Amino acid sequence: MESKIFFSNHPLIQHKLSILRDVETGTYKFRDLVNEIAMLMVFEATRDLPLEDVKVQTPCGVADCKRISGKTLAFVPILRAGTGMLDGVLSLIPSAKVGHIGLYRDEMTLKPVEYYCKLPSDIESRDVFVIDPMLATGGSAINAISQIKLRHPRSIKFLCIIAAPEGVKALREAHEDVDIYCAGLDSHLNENGYIVPGLGDAGDRIFGTK
Ligand code: PRP
Ligand code: URA
Repeated sequence: MESKIFFSNHPLIQHKLSILRDVETGTYKFRDLVNEIAMLMVFEATRDLPLEDVKVQTPCGVADCKRISGKTLAFVPILRAGTGMLDGVLSLIPSAKVGHIGLYRDEMTLKPVEYYCKLPSDIESRDVFVIDPMLATGGSAINAISQIKLRHPRSIKFLCIIAAPEGVKALREAHEDVDIYCAGLDSHLNENGYIVPGLGDAGDRIFGTK
């Protein structure tokens, strides 16, 4: 079974992404946009959540309604840049639990270096969205998902804003059961492992560290 890749081509997402990429967009605006795009993307990515029938007493009668069955989601941002998407996704699904995985890319080897992992205790009964704005070589996403799989969640999806073809290929090969959601699929990686044209260093632009 090959994983699926979904593109968020909604006009609002694409419009916001164009501003996000702009080198002139400052930290304050960048941070807002990352959250807004993440919220809109999770709206699309939760299209298949199961519903159950409920009857609701209105002021005028009883309505046959649908509600999401169970509160079963967890978001796992990859530190640091993934936390920039967290407020956005939680604004739509506030009941979700949150785990954190700490990884950074070694600048020389481009390999992920692990430094933190804290996941919800009931993760085996949850559907997990791993969130990170950038999928470049794929090393960080692959490592994070491998760590989460050790705890046997019900399912895992990966949600990023911009992906490189190299990262998509590597992630799909490593985790063929993990569907990928992205808003932009770019051209290639440069010699430093940055996505071209991409948006630069997501963590630095969210936190204003460069
Ligand atoms: C960025 C990004 C991803 C990773 C993607 O994080 O947020 O986690 O790089 O690259 P990869 O697909 O080649 O692994 P970074 O390592 O810069 O750390 P930061 O979030 O702390 O800035
Ligand atoms: N991480 C980033 O923040 N940006 C890239 O282009 C690649 C990895």
